[in-house]
Amino acid sequence: MDKGSVNSFKVKGVAKDLCFFNRKKEIKALLDHAAGGQHTLLLAPRRFGKSSLLRKVAALASRQGCIKEMFYDKKRAFYQSAIRMDLGFAPVDEAGSYLLSMFDTEDNKVAASLCAELAQMTKGHPYYVQLAGYCLWELYRAAGDWKKVSAQDVFLMIYDLERTTFENSISLLTPQQRQVYRAIASDPGKQLTSRGFLVSHALPGHSSVRKAVAKLEASGFVLKGGGGYYSADPVLGTWWASAVG
Ligand SMILES: Nc1ncnc2c1ncn2[C@@H]1O[C@H](COP(=O)(O)OP(=O)(O)OP(=O)(O)O)[C@@H](O)[C@H]1O
Ligand SMILES: [Mg+2]
Repeated sequence: MDKGSVNSFKVKGVAKDLCFFNRKKEIKALLDHAAGGQHTLLLAPRRFGKSSLLRKVAALASRQGCIKEMFYDKKRAFYQSAIRMDLGFAPVDEAGSYLLSMFDTEDNKVAASLCAELAQMTKGHPYYVQLAGYCLWELYRAAGDWKKVSAQDVFLMIYDLERTTFENSISLLTPQQRQVYRAIASDPGKQLTSRGFLVSHALPGHSSVRKAVAKLEASGFVLKGGGGYYSADPVLGTWWASAVG
């Protein structure tokens, strides 16, 4: 395939073939668990790539001829408890190399730094890496010059494409939850109920903040890790942190 003439980023359905990147560790662990008759509970928020990963593993397993045993040998695995696997972001540097590899410009410094910047902005979230690639490809094709495309333009295009989805997501939250979500998205990893945090984000008392955070976590808006909370969806978070209202 001529990489230069078709936008081959895939933003709908599961990612496969050329589009699939990273997840080597997870693929190996899933295949190992399956070979040992061990169930795996695969957990991740929306659009982190659970279905894509399982499809990839099923395809590899069937090529290796062990699919029947993995999925149909009732004697082996049913009564074992599952090993939990949390699917996270892909490493940012791998996401950047992947983006660059989809263009015919591997030796172009401007393209390379743009891809690295976009990978950073998506935090390696697989869906947004695809979407950023898709938008980058369209903008580059229209401009015909890497120097005329910026990461900011790519993000504005992403916001345009995702606006309805983002608005629908936010509409599920109460005004107080929206306010707490904005505080977390713009200022991640902080002690939420500390006086400084409450004051600087004009938040209500700490018991309402605690209640709002519990709801945000239960509904998948925020994740806990690295000493605090952060937005599970990095792009929804950035959009909401900069949105008016
Ligand atoms: N390993 C990957 N490589 C490249 N792109 C990926 C990968 N995993 C996911 N994606 C991208 O993310 C999108 C969502 O992936 P997928 O449908 O597998 O996620 P999911 O976790 O099953 O989502 P949902 O919770 O909505 O079912 C895909 O359409 C694809 O664009
Ligand atoms: Mg899925």
